[in-house]
Amino acid sequence: MAAPVRIRDDNNNRKVNMSDTVLLPQEGFLPGIPCLFSCDDPVYEALVFTTRFRYCNLHMRALGLRGWGGSTLTTEWTIREVLNWTRGYFEDAGIVQPRLEAEILLAHALDVDRLHLYLAPDKPLTHDERTRYRGVVKQRHSGTPLQYVIGEVSFYGLRFRVDRKTLIPRAETEELLDQVIKRAPRDRDIRCLDLGTGTGVIAVCMARYLPKAHVTAVDISPAAIEMAQGNAALNGVEDRIEFVESDWFSRVEGDFDFIASNPPYIRTSELPGLPKEVRDHEPVIALDGGADGLAKIRMIASQLRSHLRADGKILMEIGHDQGEGVREILMSVGLADICIEQDMAGKDRFAVGRCPS
Ligand SMILES: C[S@@+](CC[C@H](N)C(=O)[O-])C[C@H]1O[C@@H](n2cnc3c(N)ncnc32)[C@H](O)[C@@H]1O
Repeated sequence: MAAPVRIRDDNNNRKVNMSDTVLLPQEGFLPGIPCLFSCDDPVYEALVFTTRFRYCNLHMRALGLRGWGGSTLTTEWTIREVLNWTRGYFEDAGIVQPRLEAEILLAHALDVDRLHLYLAPDKPLTHDERTRYRGVVKQRHSGTPLQYVIGEVSFYGLRFRVDRKTLIPRAETEELLDQVIKRAPRDRDIRCLDLGTGTGVIAVCMARYLPKAHVTAVDISPAAIEMAQGNAALNGVEDRIEFVESDWFSRVEGDFDFIASNPPYIRTSELPGLPKEVRDHEPVIALDGGADGLAKIRMIASQLRSHLRADGKILMEIGHDQGEGVREILMSVGLADICIEQDMAGKDRFAVGRCPS
């Protein structure tokens, strides 16, 4: 390589040498930053490799003169390079699975599945692709949950859209679905109710996996109802679910064989201590269970006897320390065969009760 080759750091208006370590402004510290640098010699381009948070080393590589005439650098970033870069960037920000999240975000920005990234690691990103990727990386780095950034989540083998107006469905709720599906008959018509449907995961999965279920999905939030309706269509079950905007049972008619609910059950005093990603981004109405966390469960329980058929069952997700409290509530409204089931972590997580005949 001919020396000396000088690179201008256009942002700070100074010259830097190959292999200098430079501090980049926060704004520029994203894939695509080479536009911050220009090179005096048109046969070289600068490749920017990030090594530490906000620092990078500049490396030079010969370009040849083919068709390259400008002095502004147009460094190409390959899939492999941006993934390696983002992993470090996310790692420094404390993101727990930096490489996985980088892959998910890049696949989202390129509108491909993750496998594609492994099949074409040396493919350079276009300017538009880099711009899209930069946007989602920025959002994630600033603390927006991954699911809100990409706008979707996988749940019980199905895809669901999600946004800030709806809770991000959790793995525990997949286990609640297990509890419903293992108890529900598949060979006869049943009526099922999902109270507090959010993205609609429980209602949509009941409709998809219980072929004879007629499902009603309820939420007090119009935005949640709209999202749940969209997700029902996305999964081909919109004809099997009736959506009702309602304060719990207030506008619900009839009785049901199965009522499933993941109600808000966090104590109000615990909300400020939730992880920042939850506290700052997820809707409070989906989380706040009142002073002792059981307020919404009491409201639901108070009307169960009017809406459960004889032998009909309620299955609810609850907090890990609420088993005894919920058992008492369900007993007080006259349910039978009450049991508290554990999640995969061995913690109390689900309450089940039967309406006596
Ligand atoms: C914990 S989220 C559950 C969302 C979804 N079922 C899930 O499991 O991911 C609780 C849901 O209850 C809804 N909700 C809160 N208060 C309600 C009320 N008074 N009546 C009906 N739904 C309510 C919230 O809007 C939210 O969508």
